[in-house]
Amino acid sequence: MASKTFKQALRSSTLRQLTSTVPPKRTFVTVLSKTRAVKSPASRASGIASTQQIRGIKNIDFAGEKEKVWERQDWPAEKLLEYFKNDTLALIGYGSQGHGQGLNLRDNGLNVIIGVRKNGASWKEAQQDGWVPGKNLFEVDEAISKGTIIMNLLSDAAQSETWPAIKPQLTKDKTLYFSHGFSPVFKDKTGVDVPKDIDVILVAPKGSGRTVRSLFREGRGINSSFAVFQDVTGKAEEKAIALGVAVGSGYLYKTTFEKEVYSDLYGERGCLMGGIHGMFLAQYEVLRERGHSPSEAFNETVEEATQSLYPLIGANGMDWMYAACSTTARRGAIDWTPKFKTALKPVFNELYDRVKDGSETQRSLDYNSAPDYREKYEKEMQEIRDLEIWRAGKAVRGLRPENN
Ligand SMILES: NC(=O)c1ccc[n+]([C@@H]2O[C@H](COP(=O)([O-])OP(=O)(O)OC[C@H]3O[C@@H](n4cnc5c(N)ncnc54)[C@H](OP(=O)(O)O)[C@@H]3O)[C@@H](O)[C@H]2O)c1
Repeated sequence: MASKTFKQALRSSTLRQLTSTVPPKRTFVTVLSKTRAVKSPASRASGIASTQQIRGIKNIDFAGEKEKVWERQDWPAEKLLEYFKNDTLALIGYGSQGHGQGLNLRDNGLNVIIGVRKNGASWKEAQQDGWVPGKNLFEVDEAISKGTIIMNLLSDAAQSETWPAIKPQLTKDKTLYFSHGFSPVFKDKTGVDVPKDIDVILVAPKGSGRTVRSLFREGRGINSSFAVFQDVTGKAEEKAIALGVAVGSGYLYKTTFEKEVYSDLYGERGCLMGGIHGMFLAQYEVLRERGHSPSEAFNETVEEATQSLYPLIGANGMDWMYAACSTTARRGAIDWTPKFKTALKPVFNELYDRVKDGSETQRSLDYNSAPDYREKYEKEMQEIRDLEIWRAGKAVRGLRPENN
């Protein structure tokens, strides 16, 4: 529970940080923010009020390990247009990623078409986004037949389900693109055994497709990882990087299909969603069981975290956060960190084992392939919505000025 002093210290420290004219210590974050903004030719062409940041970082020292980072600067719009001038990018599936990546490709001026089930939810959404049936919106098979680069952005379960129909259409000279290593890495479970005579590449944005789109529109760009599963032409890596930029990445980090899928499944089950939700629930329940009101329990568990502390940790790091809070808060947080780490590390190890041995993949395929998965999912969402913590949260959010 944050003390008054803590909140005051935080507020004044935040203010200092935001208003300070003293150059901050040179960190990766500050290096990234030292950029010059110019209007990109692609944004000029598409009429989008977008700026492209010029950056000059290649070899970055990540805590003692040097890694090469690929950046958008190397692929200006003219180069992308030239590179893909003979390509038709057939983007299959129009969920969160299909929407974000597809619209960014279109705004970059590339020849992109969408392939989805006729009259499904995605078909309608694609039409709402300006894709025109018969022009750049087709059924899946027709889009694949027209495409030279097939971007498989179906749901992971659907990639497995549709593979027997899709595989024979992936003829020599086409390229197969994924945004997740899931299907080919766990081919024993998914059945996705890629043809041996085509390039198979991956660009995995580190965020929702909605963020892929919003960062592109802001002229920024999302961090993505890229990987090559199979290089037949000798150009697979270059193609992956170019596509990564074309779909809206600002920085691209090299990985393998295996590492991408292990870290992604692990992260979303852990700190990104599952783990953090479990921690919210545990903390909230104890506060409620000890007599605290719903609003107090929610504010001390979720609201202060998401509205104040987490964005500051994101912007400045944990050491900065400790330095910015009261001595009381700092002492307690530092003392309790190892206890939480010790309690949680075995859970994280169990989770990684289950990801690596394919158990989590099997669970996801079984659940998401069931004909009634949407109903089951909706039931679970309703249960979460009905939890007291999230009902209290709704009321707290309702008091925010923008929601009043
Ligand atoms: N979402 C993210 O934040 C995120 C981030 C990074 C990477 N990825 C990866 O990106 C890929 C796409 O994920 P997503 O979240 O954008 O999409 P998604 O919501 O998981 O998938 C939606 C698409 O799959 C189609 N679909 C589902 N079942 C189908 C079937 N049996 N036959 C044909 N189409 C079917 C849907 O069409 P209908 O509307 O017709 O049902 C829709 O177009 C996945 O590999 C995912 O792991 C996702």
